[in-house]
Amino acid sequence: MADKTLGAYNIADLREMAKRRLPRGIFEFVDRGAEDEVALRNNRQAFEGIKLKSRVLADVSSRSLETTLFGKTYSMPLGISPTGTAGLLSYGGEIAIAQAAAKANIPYTVATPAMTSMEEIAEQVGGELWFQLYVWADKAQSYKFVERVKSVGYKTLIVTVDSVVGYNREYNHKNGFEVPLKYTPRMLAQLLAKPGWFVSCLLPQLLRRGIPKYENYPAEMKDKITAKTFDGSKMKNDTLHWDDLKVLRDRWPGTLMVKGILHPDDAALAAACGADGVIVSNHGGRNLDASVAPIQILPEIAARVGGKTTVIVDSGFRRGTDVIKGLALGADFVMTGRPTLYGTAVAGEAGAARAIEIFGDEINRVMGQLGLHSIDEITRDCLWEPSLSP
Ligand SMILES: Cc1cc2nc3c(=O)[nH]c(=O)nc-3n(C[C@H](O)[C@H](O)[C@H](O)COP(=O)(O)O)c2cc1C
Repeated sequence: MADKTLGAYNIADLREMAKRRLPRGIFEFVDRGAEDEVALRNNRQAFEGIKLKSRVLADVSSRSLETTLFGKTYSMPLGISPTGTAGLLSYGGEIAIAQAAAKANIPYTVATPAMTSMEEIAEQVGGELWFQLYVWADKAQSYKFVERVKSVGYKTLIVTVDSVVGYNREYNHKNGFEVPLKYTPRMLAQLLAKPGWFVSCLLPQLLRRGIPKYENYPAEMKDKITAKTFDGSKMKNDTLHWDDLKVLRDRWPGTLMVKGILHPDDAALAAACGADGVIVSNHGGRNLDASVAPIQILPEIAARVGGKTTVIVDSGFRRGTDVIKGLALGADFVMTGRPTLYGTAVAGEAGAARAIEIFGDEINRVMGQLGLHSIDEITRDCLWEPSLSP
């Protein structure tokens, strides 16, 4: 029988395996951060200084990770963040991750720039699907798009607001993987250097679906990622304003969340515009390199809007202990981006499932080590806060 662990005992193992399997430019697109990658490193380092206090002799033989969010009960307090290019990591990568999430009973977020359409993902995957929206410069086009998301049956809309002016990811200039992709001998050499990925991902993609495209985009915007006409400026929207959020609130009857919040005042503004939740996120360290880590600002945001508005956090979560720290610091739920991308690059759906399983096992074990039986027992009391000691 195949080894269900895939030889990966933690998320870092999956990352190393994905690095070996993927062409360099694609791995770096997933893995790296903006500019000097200070935010990327800080997202991880910020967890190290947070310490947990164990309780003992608590009969932890029965433990449950079940978590209820917006009236739905999930198997654990973890969901999958939207990521645009899973289809470049394994064939049909978005479906692979969404299926792994559905089988694990956790939510998966379809990204606006997915390489599989929202219709196909909804049709093939039975689980809880959320949809992430980038509002385009052409707002009328975006509102039409929201109608389509609604008509496909999505009930949760996440509006990402931290990417309105683009980003500075210098490694993309250096490794040659910029959209529109240009066929250069260096790029072709990178692709051919990874025959396992080439045969299992790129070849079936080209034969069955053609050159990868952002499949959700309306026809007039849907260029192949290699097309010279591909115009990134259509994607950006630096006029985005709270008034636009109010319009979206009026148009979206389901759950509405705002992703990319890093200031308590913005969390309060989002709630005032009618958002049901905020996602505290620095886009995984991919945008503003001097950004505070979400786990660092989370307590201030939770103190401001927690209890009134759902607070979710992502960026840098790689261990069960990280998830528990996020919940103890005031989050209702945690999301994760790269881990299931590494997983799907390694082994499609099985790899994404392995990433989710690792999180679940680790959360479960750490709850036992802390003397906890259920997720709602994870409170600030689990944290060692010397400044609060007498
Ligand atoms: C390859 C990649 C693509 C992403 N694409 C999107 C996207 O289309 N929309 C979005 O809101 N966030 C996007 N993100 C950010 C994630 O939703 C999430 O905030 C981030 O990955 C969390 O950090 P983590 O990877 O350390 O868990 C992307 C992240 C990665 C790594």
